[in-house]
Amino acid sequence: MLELFSSITIDKDSETPLYIQLYENIKKMIEGNILAPDMKLPSVRQLASSLHVNQITVVSALKLLQKDGFIYTRPGSGTYVEDLMSLPEDKNRDGSSIVADELYLQDDLPMIADGQINVSSKTINFASATPTPDLFPVEDFKAALNEVLDRDKGTAFAYQDSHGYYPLRECVAGMMQKAGINCTPGNVQIISGAQQGIDIISKAFLRQGDSVVTESPTYTGAIAVFRTRGAQIVDVELDEDGPNMELLEYSLKKFKPKLIYAIPSFHNPTGYTYSESKRKEMLNLAEKYDCYIIEDDYVSDLDFEGKNLLPLKARDKNNRVIFIKSFSKIFMPGLRLGFMIVPQDMRSNILEAKHTTDISTSGLIQRAFDTYIRKGYWDKHFKFMFDIYEERYFKTIKVLDECLPDGVHYTKPGGGLNIWLNMPYGFSVNSLFKQSAANDIAFAPGSIFYSSNSSKRMNSLRLSFASVYTDQIEPGINSLCRMIRTQQEKNISLRNMPIL
Ligand SMILES: Cc1ncc(COP(=O)(O)O)c(C=O)c1O
Repeated sequence: MLELFSSITIDKDSETPLYIQLYENIKKMIEGNILAPDMKLPSVRQLASSLHVNQITVVSALKLLQKDGFIYTRPGSGTYVEDLMSLPEDKNRDGSSIVADELYLQDDLPMIADGQINVSSKTINFASATPTPDLFPVEDFKAALNEVLDRDKGTAFAYQDSHGYYPLRECVAGMMQKAGINCTPGNVQIISGAQQGIDIISKAFLRQGDSVVTESPTYTGAIAVFRTRGAQIVDVELDEDGPNMELLEYSLKKFKPKLIYAIPSFHNPTGYTYSESKRKEMLNLAEKYDCYIIEDDYVSDLDFEGKNLLPLKARDKNNRVIFIKSFSKIFMPGLRLGFMIVPQDMRSNILEAKHTTDISTSGLIQRAFDTYIRKGYWDKHFKFMFDIYEERYFKTIKVLDECLPDGVHYTKPGGGLNIWLNMPYGFSVNSLFKQSAANDIAFAPGSIFYSSNSSKRMNSLRLSFASVYTDQIEPGINSLCRMIRTQQEKNISLRNMPIL
């Protein structure tokens, strides 16, 4: 058996990581039927010693092969070659069989329009990672607005400095100092939401054909921005503790990107959080390969299990990080308010991009928000939202632990608003999506968070608990689990059907 692997050539001087080379070699052997369906593979130790690579290289290659559906494991027995012919048609293995899924998504454009999933008032909504309007602090914000109008009169409606209303920048700098980030009002750029932040950074620094590195999967709004700028998106696989660093370095070396777009804490869509060591390593790599990191912090403060995460920006000695903060997940997303902390030498380019985009974020809203913070309403509202999300988080985790069928995996994020479910290979998330929609349950199919067909994984999904009421969580997840089980049973009976 081991002799079959003797044809594998691994070039230790190549720029391609060893585990990718090994992955490609084994994949070719499976596709060429050199490794037959259901054949047991040698152990990791045997493969490593016969190929003269270390065991981590073999494990990484096997992990990727399993993720892409070329092999499967039998607990306690070993790793086996998948029977490619017996798998449902809509599985993405080589990029060509993806068509079924894409057609499906197009068929359902009313359900998924521009990355947004429509829901009705009856829907149990695990699809949106956004607070519902009943939680918005309308009365307190009205009081702050009225106070500003009485105080500033017409000035509140004049053009605002593009940089942002100074007292608000002062307030924000104070908040950031408390979070461990050393900044002054001069580094703070007020923006009309984090989405605008990603857009104006790209406008300022990306030209047609420039490369930008993103995690894979990642936030759809960022993918859309990079695409509209004509940038080449280089995606790097995201593991549970952050991006695959070998692949990140390989991509930085090969594609020389200007920007890395990263969501290090309670990532969207996976909920994963970078480890301390990967945070440090990413900063070192940005310095080594002369590129900048956009750190998108959209929910790091929703830390329900005490991870006490330090943003990349807090360690950014070399001024490589542009930090973006959204208020939309805690506050009222329709206000369109957020801020960035910008390294000194990038300030003027970013200010110019902001000015040509909308001159400034609404002066009235900035003033009202400044008053809202200074009067202590923000702290009160944050606590209110934290408690609600925390309750929903723990409820979601509890119900998932109780009822998720075998073969469905997830990692507890510890915070944020999203949970990423990895379904077993051969499972059709799109069928589940369609069936759930018919049963008034919405979630986000994982495939929409990938930038390219070649990296797309069709067997994951995102559950968000921001828009779902606590008492809907148990019935919603139970019903979803029932649908998952039914599909799994159908798949098993199809596989076992005798061929006459
Ligand atoms: C990771 C991430 N970044 C940015 C945004 C956009 O936020 P904003 O409403 O502040 O523009 C979102 C919204 O969902 C998001 O999930």
